[in-house]
Amino acid sequence: MQDVTTTGFMRVIGRRGVPDWFVTEYFRVHETSTPEKHIVDSILNHGTGRPVFAQLIGEDTPHILRTIRELGKLPVAGIDLNMGCPAPKVYRKNVGGGLLRDPAKIDEILGAMRQEIAGLFTVKMRIGFDGLERFDEILAIVAKHKVDLLTVHGRTVKGLYWSEVDYAAITRAVKAVPCPVIANGDVINATKAQRLINETGAWGMMMGRHAIRNPWIFRQWREVQQGFPIFTPTLEDVRIYIQELADECCDASRPAEKQAGRLKKFLNFVGQAVDTEGQFLHDMRRTETMTELMKCCDQYLLGEKAARPYPDEPHRGLIARPTRETQQTCEL
Ligand SMILES: Cc1cc2nc3c(=O)[nH]c(=O)nc-3n(C[C@H](O)[C@H](O)[C@H](O)COP(=O)(O)O)c2cc1C
Repeated sequence: MQDVTTTGFMRVIGRRGVPDWFVTEYFRVHETSTPEKHIVDSILNHGTGRPVFAQLIGEDTPHILRTIRELGKLPVAGIDLNMGCPAPKVYRKNVGGGLLRDPAKIDEILGAMRQEIAGLFTVKMRIGFDGLERFDEILAIVAKHKVDLLTVHGRTVKGLYWSEVDYAAITRAVKAVPCPVIANGDVINATKAQRLINETGAWGMMMGRHAIRNPWIFRQWREVQQGFPIFTPTLEDVRIYIQELADECCDASRPAEKQAGRLKKFLNFVGQAVDTEGQFLHDMRRTETMTELMKCCDQYLLGEKAARPYPDEPHRGLIARPTRETQQTCEL
């Protein structure tokens, strides 16, 4: 996830029950692009011991191939193509989710990428641009080019991050392509992940925002699968998680209000499960410095509240404010 899956975030997640693999923030591909240094750093220095797939976004085939050769020098598990980013500034350039309007272009890009990638080649897509009209055609192209793994976010590009997830469409993808399919979209907790495996026939689940809110989700799902009691973090565990996010994801050389702003991006998600009324979200958004923000966290998460259980799903009606990507402002 852009601005989220950084080296520091991967480390913090890794300490709480690491996922089977990570996917990087996307590398933007265009005529003059070079792999962004901070994303390369996440591949080299995450230290979790898990494989990392490098994700690309672009539509210029020769430059996609050039970038694949550059990334091939790094210890990546494979290359992933982004066909889902819904930001208008992105899709208007016919990249990310914009590609879903142009199956002929997808055919060209996937064919060329398959030729270039000797190892694992994966694709992440939404179910369509504004409807499912081209879904089957695109799935046939994915199958034709022997993509090794397909992740399907069960929303259209126009559905952004909030429309209802169409899990039946994910089941359709599972039946249509020969490779494993990973289901994505509102997999809010381990119980739902397990249910969706049975319901959709998917091979696995991808967690995005829900792993920011609950970094124990991967551990909890393993416990469900193995029939062990599910770990329930306390609010004090959440406070420790927040401290690690501050230490690992906020640049201490930046002004305090910028650091606080960065931490709030994560807390927007974490706060969805802290109190039922959304008072923590309200108060933390109004702090200005790191010191104020941490004091606010202490107030809601420590003292007599410290031992309270942290629920494994968001409280009803509490929404995370739009982030840079969900505000549709990510530039390409
Ligand atoms: C802040 C943010 C950044 C994201 N960046 C990416 C990205 O770079 N590449 C990608 O494939 N998806 C990206 N996504 C989409 C998520 O991977 C995921 O598909 C989507 O949020 C739905 O899953 P969820 O309900 O588990 O969050 C991003 C989502 C958010 C909220």
